[in-house]
Amino acid sequence: MNFQLTEEHLSVQQAARDFARNELLPGVIERDTHQKFPAEQMLKMGELGFLGMMVDPKYNGGGMDSLSYVLAIEEISKIDASASVCMSVNNSLVCWGLESFGNEEQKEKYLKPLAEKGIGAFCLSEPEAGSDATSQRTMAEDKGDHYLLNGTKNWITNGNSASVYIVIAQTDPIKRHKGINALIIEKGMPGFVVGKKEDKMGIRGSDTHSLMFTDVKVPKANRIGDEGFGFRFAMTTLNGGRIGIAAQALGISSGAYELALKYAKERKAFGKPLSEHQAIQFKLAEMATKIDAARLLVHQAAWLKDQKKDFVKAAAMAKLYASQTAQEVTTEAVQIHGGYGYVKEFHVERLMRDAKITQIYEGTSEIQKMVISRELLK
Ligand code: CAA
Repeated sequence: MNFQLTEEHLSVQQAARDFARNELLPGVIERDTHQKFPAEQMLKMGELGFLGMMVDPKYNGGGMDSLSYVLAIEEISKIDASASVCMSVNNSLVCWGLESFGNEEQKEKYLKPLAEKGIGAFCLSEPEAGSDATSQRTMAEDKGDHYLLNGTKNWITNGNSASVYIVIAQTDPIKRHKGINALIIEKGMPGFVVGKKEDKMGIRGSDTHSLMFTDVKVPKANRIGDEGFGFRFAMTTLNGGRIGIAAQALGISSGAYELALKYAKERKAFGKPLSEHQAIQFKLAEMATKIDAARLLVHQAAWLKDQKKDFVKAAAMAKLYASQTAQEVTTEAVQIHGGYGYVKEFHVERLMRDAKITQIYEGTSEIQKMVISRELLK
């Protein structure tokens, strides 16, 4: 077993770290306050190859492995978890889904630009279908050479900034999940309207919207895979996506821990630095141990995916544990900062708010436990 990162991995990690510090850090508080999407920063991410990291170079991707991807996501999430979710959705839900299951025409037309400069969205959740994803109400009625799409999607990351949307919709309700399709929708298709932007607790720089579809004519050529493959597509793609969100949670934890460690060495109380008080030392020890454990789970899941082995359970475990760790570590980081940790100019305040969503999106912690236990018992 080798825990050593290669030169290539180290250089991707360093590039992401530099990008996060130089390009994301300066405006991160302002973007959070005003819910401003990091549009310029996403353009730069595209230039640096961070939007299609795992895509084959013949489709304009970086041809990197999943381990490189999680290293980059961790570094970017330490500074700006809003930017990292936009990046994660484009890489793992949109590009990876299209590359794995799209046909050549779809890859030429959609994957190539998305891998180069983004931005795509993955649209599964609905007002009445979150965790219970098989209960899709959005309808894609079969009209021969096209589908007629009607319905509403909720909480869609990159909802307004995307140019391409993968929409999951029901075609044949009698067949339940086997009657669901995944369709590629372009912004600007008649009948497709971007709805309200959500005013969120955290990841406020990301662009989360509802989407409305009214008689949108979608050519059959835009269906991913065979008729009825849509639910399998969504589940399989989410298995990979969960590694990205686990890496995001890991980055939020390690970002908060690094800030807390620095603060503990600088801030004095009762005549000595906080770091010389055992109460703080024990907090730091627990935080660091949990972060290391989360990192091992994340790297294991990425490694299994790269080895083309079954990674469903590993991805769910990584997301479950890393998101729980993000909750705990960011809360302790705020605690170490005391009153300063509760105000917005100290980054731990934002990281604590950002951490919560990692236990909710791409499958709540409860869904991860369902996935893990089903894998254990099958
Ligand atoms: N991988 C592959 N296939 C899976 C799967 C998995 N992890 N989980 C289920 N499936 C398949 C099953 O094999 C079954 O297919 P077959 O009948 O062909 O075998 C089919 O899906 C239905 O499965 P179940 O009968 O188990 O369905 P269920 O209703 O009991 O449970 C669920 C399904 C696992 C709970 C599923 O609904 C689920 O994962 N829910 C969570 C949805 C989710 O993660 N949403 C996140 C939204 S996307 C997002 O957040 C993106 C963003 O913008 C950040």
